[in-house]
Amino acid sequence: MKIALGVTGGIAAYKAAEIARRLQDRNIRVQVIMTDSAQEFVRPLTFAALTGEKVITEMFSQRDSNSTLDSSVEHISVAQAIDALLVAPATAATLARFAHGLSEDFLSTLYLATTAPVVVAPAMNVNMWRHAATQANLETLRARGVTIVEPSQGYLACGMVGEGRLADTDEIVEALLARIVQSEDLKGENVLISAGPTYEPIDPVRFLGNRSSGKMGYALAEAALRRGARVTLVSGPTALTPPAVEEFVRVETCAQMREALLARFGRASVTIMSAAVSDFSPANVAGQKIKREAAMHLDLQPTADILAELGSGRAPGQLLIGFAAETQNAAENARGKLKRKHLDAIIVNDVSRPGIGFGSERNAGQIITADEVTEIPEMSKLEMAGCILDAVVKLRAGRQTPKVNA
Ligand code: CTP
Repeated sequence: MKIALGVTGGIAAYKAAEIARRLQDRNIRVQVIMTDSAQEFVRPLTFAALTGEKVITEMFSQRDSNSTLDSSVEHISVAQAIDALLVAPATAATLARFAHGLSEDFLSTLYLATTAPVVVAPAMNVNMWRHAATQANLETLRARGVTIVEPSQGYLACGMVGEGRLADTDEIVEALLARIVQSEDLKGENVLISAGPTYEPIDPVRFLGNRSSGKMGYALAEAALRRGARVTLVSGPTALTPPAVEEFVRVETCAQMREALLARFGRASVTIMSAAVSDFSPANVAGQKIKREAAMHLDLQPTADILAELGSGRAPGQLLIGFAAETQNAAENARGKLKRKHLDAIIVNDVSRPGIGFGSERNAGQIITADEVTEIPEMSKLEMAGCILDAVVKLRAGRQTPKVNA
């Protein structure tokens, strides 16, 4: 996968470096193109060092002695080689050139020459953003199928406050990933995913739950769908809207989740257990609301370990992935769970780290298999889902997909 990243002149140009790095984390090659004004803010060397690729800064550059490219048609070669064109930040001038088809520099020429999807993330002064000319240009681009990642509100470099700040890196990266024609490398797989917390009732109004939001599991379902899999999502209580999966099953307790998963496990070629299943449930559920009279003692009993049960009953070729939420000795504890529960991979989250994990949009961790450990730097949950599915594809290589009755 290769994309062109157009960087145009604005104070937010430096943020494009983070975007380039994040795309590379997803194994996407990045060809940076800088306009003249972008080079007033950031030096091409920054991007060359980050991407390991020559940065294109002019329309007709000297022919590179190592390159077989004839620079006079370089824009055509780049146009044909890329899977998408992302422009971040995109100035009002660049949007105008795109909208009016003016091939005045390499970037605007590339825009005309490529048939790949285009994503632009504008950043500018609030009045320039609101100007009828800019809005009309955006309308034209939208009508042509260009994805616009709208700027956010806030304090702008010009001293004004309003919309015009470059959107969050996460939002830009996700908008791009959504437009890239993804390989259908999970086609033929039946992926069963569990997500969210479980609620174990104490009495008719109270329950024992946990902080899981379900976002990681839903992101996995979304990412697996985009890669051609048939997806079943079994979810504990969450506030999320499920993606367009083949089957969506809503459950509440560990016992219900176990039943729903065991009933579908036989048909699954890949199972990913991302639910935060309660480890305990009240030994007795009160039929009536427990009154606030004296100190209350709850007798808890351990719940069934669903993942371990799936692990001991799996058929050859069925892949099984678990999660481990740890607050200490993360990798070591996770390795124990990998063996004990007969898993192919375990995703370790250090849930004590602030800003990631439970409830957050972002996550980080490690993917541990019998053969390797892959570090996942902090990224959005949808991107992390992509990394986990990359690992699934790798595990599948050399192991035949089981015949399942879909
Ligand atoms: N899991 C499960 N059933 C349970 C508890 C956990 O299937 N009753 C699954 C989780 O979905 C996760 C994996 O087991 O994929 C690890 O969960 P975690 O809570 O980290 O580990 P436990 O095995 O419960 O061990 P401990 O809580 O002692 O660390």
